[in-house]
Formats: sequence, C-alpha cells, structure tokens
Amino acid sequence: MPLSVSRIQNPLLLQRLMSAEAAAALIPAGAHVGMSGFTGAGYPKAVPQALAARIAAENAAGREFRIGLWTGASTAPELDGALAKVNGVEMRLPYQSDPTSRKRINAGEMEYTDIHLSHVAQYVWFGFFGKLDVAVIEVAGILPDGRLIPSTSVGNNKTWLDQADKIILEVNHRQPAALEGMHDIYYGTERPPHRVPIPLTQVSDRIGEPWLRCDLSKVVAVVETGQGDRNSVFAEPDAVSRSIAGHLIEFLQQEVQRGRLTPALLPLQSGVGNIANAVLDGLNAGPFEGLTAYTEVLQDGMLAMLRSGKLSFASATALSLSPAAAAEFEAHIEFYRSRILLRPQEISNHPELIRRLGLIAMNAMIEADIYGNVNSTHIMGSSIMNGIGGSGDFARNAYLSIFMTPSTAKDGAISCIVPMVSHVDHTEHDVQIIVTEHGLADLRGLSPKERATLVIERCAHPDYRPALRDYVARARAGAPGLHTPHLLDEAFAWHTRYLRQGTMRTDAP
Ligand code: COA
Repeated sequence: MPLSVSRIQNPLLLQRLMSAEAAAALIPAGAHVGMSGFTGAGYPKAVPQALAARIAAENAAGREFRIGLWTGASTAPELDGALAKVNGVEMRLPYQSDPTSRKRINAGEMEYTDIHLSHVAQYVWFGFFGKLDVAVIEVAGILPDGRLIPSTSVGNNKTWLDQADKIILEVNHRQPAALEGMHDIYYGTERPPHRVPIPLTQVSDRIGEPWLRCDLSKVVAVVETGQGDRNSVFAEPDAVSRSIAGHLIEFLQQEVQRGRLTPALLPLQSGVGNIANAVLDGLNAGPFEGLTAYTEVLQDGMLAMLRSGKLSFASATALSLSPAAAAEFEAHIEFYRSRILLRPQEISNHPELIRRLGLIAMNAMIEADIYGNVNSTHIMGSSIMNGIGGSGDFARNAYLSIFMTPSTAKDGAISCIVPMVSHVDHTEHDVQIIVTEHGLADLRGLSPKERATLVIERCAHPDYRPALRDYVARARAGAPGLHTPHLLDEAFAWHTRYLRQGTMRTDAP
C-alpha cells in the first residue's frame, strides 16, 4: 500500500492531496492563520516554508503580504523562523521563543500579544481576536471517516479546526503511527453561561477522545511531509542547576515531614528551559516515589522519570524532547502510551483543574524582586525574551508556586534578585517560593519586609547582598512604617546601571 494511502485513509481527503506550494497559495494576504505547534513539537513543516517563499516573492514584486500567526506556543525555524525571516508576520500570539521573531518584535517590526496559554482558545471562541481564517495543522494520520490522529502536540488544534473557515492538513509520516491513542481531546468546554465542571479528578483520567474531529468540507488541502520535530538539546545540568534542584528537594522533604505533602507529593508541573529540566533530573535521583505530572510540556527529564518508574503518569499538551530522548520515546512508545496523555492546552493549563489537582508548579524566571514579584518575560523591562507561556496559569492556581533562577546572569555581571523587577508577570500574591543556587526563600505567610530579608539572605548572590541590604535599609529609614518600602529612583537605577557599566544591553539575547 503506498504511504499516502496508509496515512490518509479518507478517500475524499486523499483527493485533496497537493504540494505545499499549492496549499500555501490558498492562504490569502492578511489572513489570521492558526497553526499547530507547541514547544517545537507537532508544528507544520512544509506549508509555512512554502508560504514564506511566496511572501518573499510577493514582497519582491512590491506587494505587501503578511499574516496574523496564532499557534499553541513556540514552534521551530521552519515555521516561526521562516516567516519572521521574510517579515511575513504582522501579529503573533501567544508564546514564541524564536530568535528571528524576537528580533522582529523588539525592533517594532512584528506585533506580539503575549497571553496566558489557557486563555488562547477561549478568547478565540469569544471572538476577542476576530475571525480565524485558515488552520494549518500537522497530524500523524487521517482515519477512514476523517477523524485525525494528533501529532506530538495538541495545543490549540481542536480550536483551530473548529473555528477556521479553511483547513490545511499536513500529514507527517515521520511521526510515529503509534501515537494513536496517546491523546485525550475534550469536547465538553462550553462558553459561559453554559459551562459545567470539567470531569477530571486524577491526572490519568481520560475525559475525551483520542482523535481530533474535523469538518471535511472545510479541508482545502492535504500535504504530505516526512520531517521530524525540532527536538533541541538541553544543556547538561551544571553545578548551579544541581544546587537549585538540591534546595528544592530538601524543601519538599521538609514539607513531607511537616505533613503538608505525602511522599508521593502532588502532581508536578515543570516549566520550559534548562533549569526546569535539571530539576527533573534531580527529582529522578531524589527520594520521592510514585509521582505524577500534570504539566504543559513533557521534557527529557520527565521522560527519564517515567522510564525509571519515579513518575507513574504524565499529562501534558506537548512533547519537547532532545533528539536522544525522542529516539528513546519512539523505541519504547508502547511503554509510554500507557503512561502519557496529551490534551488540548486549555485543559492542560486549566485553572479549575490546576486548583483541583493541587499542583506543585516549578517555573524558571528572569528575575525576582526582594518582595517576591517575578519577571519571566522581559530583559531590562522592555525587550521581550519569550513570553509568559503557561507560567501564570500554573503560578496563580497551584498548591505550591515555585520560581527558580540562577542568582546571577551573564557570568555574574547581573543580579537576578533586584529591588524592583523591571517587568511584572507574577505578582507577589502568586509567588510562594523563590530558589537560586544559594538557597530557597519560603515566602508563605510573610509580610513584605520579612520577605525582603529572606530573599536577600537566602537567594541573592553574596556579591550583591551588601547593595541589596543597603537599599532595604535606606528605603526603610526613608519611609519608616510603610508597608513596602521602596526608593523609586534607585529601584530603576539598579537596572540602568548595567547599561552605564556596559555589562548589559537593552535587547534580549
Ligand atoms: N538579565 C538579563 N539576562 C538574563 C537574566 C537577567 N536577569 N536572566 C537570564 N537572562 C538571560 C540568560 O543569560 C540567557 O541568555 P543567553 O541565552 O544569551 O545565555 C537567557 O536569558 C536564558 O536564560 P537561561 O538561564 O538559559 O534560562 P532558561 O533556559 O531556563 O529560560 C526563561 C529561562 C525565564 C527565559 C524561560 O524559562 C521562559 O521563557 N519562561 C517563561 C515561560 C514559562 O515559564 N513557561 C513555563 C510554563 S509551562
């Protein structure tokens, strides 16, 4: 049986098979395009590149051609990178981490709406962003009746398929066919005032269907691809990240001793990036057993924990694996299939479920201030790094809300503990625990003044503690009795002195 017949089993959709170039020609200039893709997994590989080539040709002919690009979260060079390179994106949402897109956004050449990942689908249902014109979705296969086997991420695909006028499907035969059965697509989310409780009480609960539904009359093109996901390599855990993991594990052990957690803890949520991955490595070697995860992305560290048995089940919306971990996943996919469920991101990040399950949320950050406000997204207050992602969904609603960072950045030239964050993503009300390689500050139940002392003494790098102590002392002396003492001029000058010293530029890396 030819490959296309085995993966595209619906006869009607088989007739819509065409080249990526022909499919890209069906996307009009100015369209809002919802593409699949979440942290480098399950994004369309061919149509975005064909669209970028078309945009370049249109621009060369003097015709402006740009689209609004909506995704699940970050994608890859073949999607975000290719479209940003030709300046083809007018407005991007919700989360990106592509270096070319970042440069465009920070140069004012691309608009960017950075919103909580759990909000995206419902904002589109509510019509807050206008009409979705085209969906471009990677799938692992099409069943005879037209149902779709999702790929390595689910993200907002259900919503894009439902809301778009036209659908382009990329059927990727490089993705394992055995992904079938690893997804749980919930179709019960109604708009207010008709909402009912989401019937999920355990991380392993299946509440939906393994396939995506699709109105076949909307499918204008089917394109075959055979390229793997981005699969970036994680940095090996270093002394700093191992130390952060150590403090975190010690803290969790104390919580067990105090009776506030059981030895199986509560479901883990782990954010993106190297530090988060290193913490999972630490937990894999740590004392806890029978763990579960209700998280957004499943990184290498979590896969290793499933393999070792430390983790019994993981619910996520996407895989985000290194090439080695992706190979291990594929080689043992039957093992993982009974231990992993991939869900739409409005479910993986749903506040109702995060609160009900009582998650331990562990996310990385750029900087924290002495009072516990956290900046996850901006360098020097103005340049976007990536975006808030799901960190806000989890931080506000988790049982424990933990933020972690090395105490300094840029080889010690910048302190990640500052008097006042240059941009606020998570307020002091959503942040309970701050961890650096020097220690952990448990801010629960503390007043701002108590928090400031603890954050400086436990988390700041020793080189920066004198300046921070001096700031606090003078702020308190200048405003005795005030609740959250600040020296506003100096709080801002703390950041701008890096510019004066030349140790920092205003732009993101
Ligand atoms: N000032 C200036 N630059 C800083 C900085 C600071 N206070 N803190 C970090 N940086 C720089 C680093 O130097 C590094 O730059 P480089 O790539 O040029 O070396 C870059 O920011 C990334 O830092 P790194 O330490 O490698 O962190 P990471 O890979 O763990 O990512 C975040 C950290 C905060 C950028 C990342 O976790 C993120 O985007 N978070 C927001 C979204 C989120 O939390 N999602 C999870 C929800 S599921």
